[in-house]
Amino acid sequence: MKILSVVGARPNFMKIAPFVHAVNKHNDIHGCSQVDSQGTSHSNISTLQSVIDHILVHTGQHYDAAMSQSFFQALGMPNADINLGIGSGSHAEQVGQTMIAFEEVVRREKPDWVVVVGDVNATCACSITAKKEHVRLAHIEAGLRSRDMSMPEEINRLVTDRLSDLLFTPDELSAENLRKEGVPEDRIKFVGNIMIDTLESHKEKAAGLELEGIIQDNLLAENGPLPANLGQFLARGGYGLMTLHRPSNVDEQAVLEPILNFLVDEFSSNMPLVWAVHPRTVKRLREFALWDKAKNCKSLLLLHPLGYHEMLRLNMGARLMLTDSGGLQEECCVLGTPCLTLRWNTERPVTLQEHGGASVLVGNDVGRIRDAYHDIVHVQRKPIRPDLWDGNTARRIVQAILDFDKV
Ligand code: UD1
Repeated sequence: MKILSVVGARPNFMKIAPFVHAVNKHNDIHGCSQVDSQGTSHSNISTLQSVIDHILVHTGQHYDAAMSQSFFQALGMPNADINLGIGSGSHAEQVGQTMIAFEEVVRREKPDWVVVVGDVNATCACSITAKKEHVRLAHIEAGLRSRDMSMPEEINRLVTDRLSDLLFTPDELSAENLRKEGVPEDRIKFVGNIMIDTLESHKEKAAGLELEGIIQDNLLAENGPLPANLGQFLARGGYGLMTLHRPSNVDEQAVLEPILNFLVDEFSSNMPLVWAVHPRTVKRLREFALWDKAKNCKSLLLLHPLGYHEMLRLNMGARLMLTDSGGLQEECCVLGTPCLTLRWNTERPVTLQEHGGASVLVGNDVGRIRDAYHDIVHVQRKPIRPDLWDGNTARRIVQAILDFDKV
């Protein structure tokens, strides 16, 4: 069986890594050929049939080392076999160019399956291409719905799920969404959250990292000098951790400026805030002439986008998280970090307090963020583990793909 799997942007890498490892493990078990007494290698035909020929394609949507290459290394993945080098652009440019380049790859490689993960432009572009080339499509992280059509990711999810032959859902709520949309039951496989496979495999390594070292090593050059007693500074009342990159939060000055004012004028006077700043957000802060205010605030520690282990370590120690990232909401849930989600909706309701999770939706209205902050700052860390978020999701996925042909 030949599988082409696709990644494009940062959140994809944590989702594909366990799949790559599970495929390799499967091949280690089933792919061994036997060597006879003359030293000739004989492969067992029935064994060879279940060997997976796997090709990893990177569309190149994210290309900065800190947004891409560093994750391959940290997660123990080989470099992608094929990089389409698409880079930045408008949505139509990214999707269109990815489709053109991926079509050539599919025609040349003739895979039995294309496997896509998540909801980025690469996911949608390669799904459409695969189906138009009559190749079976599997979607890992299917069924998530924010019902917010202004989010590019929601469009990507709907298109990808509509086209998929196998839909791997992280939780029962997502499986239920698919049923309501009329997806046949035999295509829906509730397998758990693959990103938690990655968290489980790497949490020990992350726990061994030193907070101060992470901050010193990743501080943006323009950030002012760190306090001499950084350890005490972070430990005294704890620290907040933040990421913010969604167009709805950062692309308009009228939205970004009040958030920044709240962080600088109120939040940071209570506790330090470690902010791993996405390239899109840096660009906007500069454009809106807000960058100086951010970098001159002594309690705001501005970092480059962080590596996987570094972010995990900071999350493990944070008193609370502020984020608009879907993946971090899920990691906060499992780690128990109280989380303010700067969105009006989420495609991951299982992470919310009302479903037992650690996260509260606060949108991007400062009044609401402030109120929720004052509530959540008193909440104790309480790890939650939804069903099948157990570190074995990738193994279930590989098995389901192999089983598909048997039925
Ligand atoms: C993409 C995903 C989003 C995901 C996010 C994680 C889509 C529609 N969006 O959004 O779901 O949460 O990744 O980071 O696919 N840039 C760089 N270097 C890079 C990549 C981007 O400088 O390596 C800058 C460029 O100015 C680019 C901008 O960031 O135009 C936005 O990148 P893009 O890939 O368009 O979307 P993200 O906002 O990163």
